[in-house]
Amino acid sequence: MIEFQNVSKVFNSAGKQIEALKDIQLTVERGDIFGVIGFSGAGKSTLIRTVNLLEYPTAGEVLIEGRNLAKLSEKHLREAKKKIGMIFQHFNLLNSKTVFENVAMPLRLGKVKKIEIENRVNQLLRFVGLEDKANSYPDQLSGGQKQRVGIARALVTNPSILLCDEATSALDPQTTKSILDLLKRVNEEYKITILIITHEMEVIKQICNRVAVMEGGRVIESGSVFNIFSNPQTETARNFVHSVIRDEVPESIIHLLEDDKRQSRIYKIDFLGVSSSQPIVSSAAKEFDVEINILFGNITELQGIPFGNLIVEISGSEIEIARAYKYIEAQNVTINEITDKGVTGNGSKQRTDYEGFVGNVVHG
Ligand SMILES: Nc1ncnc2c1ncn2[C@@H]1O[C@H](COP(=O)(O)OP(=O)(O)OP(=O)(O)O)[C@@H](O)[C@H]1O
Ligand SMILES: [Mg+2]
Repeated sequence: MIEFQNVSKVFNSAGKQIEALKDIQLTVERGDIFGVIGFSGAGKSTLIRTVNLLEYPTAGEVLIEGRNLAKLSEKHLREAKKKIGMIFQHFNLLNSKTVFENVAMPLRLGKVKKIEIENRVNQLLRFVGLEDKANSYPDQLSGGQKQRVGIARALVTNPSILLCDEATSALDPQTTKSILDLLKRVNEEYKITILIITHEMEVIKQICNRVAVMEGGRVIESGSVFNIFSNPQTETARNFVHSVIRDEVPESIIHLLEDDKRQSRIYKIDFLGVSSSQPIVSSAAKEFDVEINILFGNITELQGIPFGNLIVEISGSEIEIARAYKYIEAQNVTINEITDKGVTGNGSKQRTDYEGFVGNVVHG
């Protein structure tokens, strides 16, 4: 467990005082993959660096399993720091050393036996999928492979906490996903608590269970990822959520509405924690004399819970459409009609993920 208790940090730079952290209160529970998101300069790196005392707080305390590392003797601090691994945006590998030696480095400094080092390093290289690169040099690796070396090195001392400062910001989306998958395995298989700093909401969406939003040195919002995504309280959090899950109705659907001879109506169905979207739509199509055409939408998963919406066209007689509507409405989802005036009713929960799919017909 990591507890930030009223943590503040003031930098003195060229005669000016910069308040990088202002009275931070935050608890990261054991086993969390805790994300901290914010724009550049929000104080994220400063915050994460107070955990392993790369920065000392000016006021307040950071407690690791109840202990304030700032109060430990040098010897005990050295031991405590072994329990905290860290990975970086630019990997921080030694180019003159092989992959094996980069990973072995923290153990060499700790005078661990040669055979133990060999076993441990090889085990971790296997874990990160780089067993065949042991004798390569960092310059011979891709960015994703370099970060895998960084992860292996961070794990070599058997830490209980892994700090990640923008660990995927230098990587393309595909490689980012593979590194995030690896971090998830680190969390699950090694039972390591992960604190991850990012400016990308996609990272939070993919692996975090809890999140804090930082702005101007403060935590302005924090909670479970599901709660922040479904009900962001601040403008900044809303903007981050919309950066991965947008809620405008696509132009193509607005155009459809211009055809006023339509025998159909268009609805937006928001799924918030419903077990599955497909049965609701297909059972409505079976139950009533309507055809339901999925025009757009995407249900994304947040910690295994479906989240997102579908835009559907329901065609049939007015009476049957109304009955299907009532049926869907009763299923713990939000359904609103889209007209040429936009989304009617309480449109507050509408969201669309734009990696949508189009033209999926469910026959009645
Ligand atoms: N060593 C330092 N000396 C002086 N000011 C600093 C120092 N480190 C950080 N700051 C200032 O503290 C504030 C927070 O910086 P920090 O690096 O924590 O932000 P960040 O959220 O990590 O930003 P980014 O997303 O750009 O990495 C900034 O105004 C920064 O200029
Ligand atoms: Mg930073």
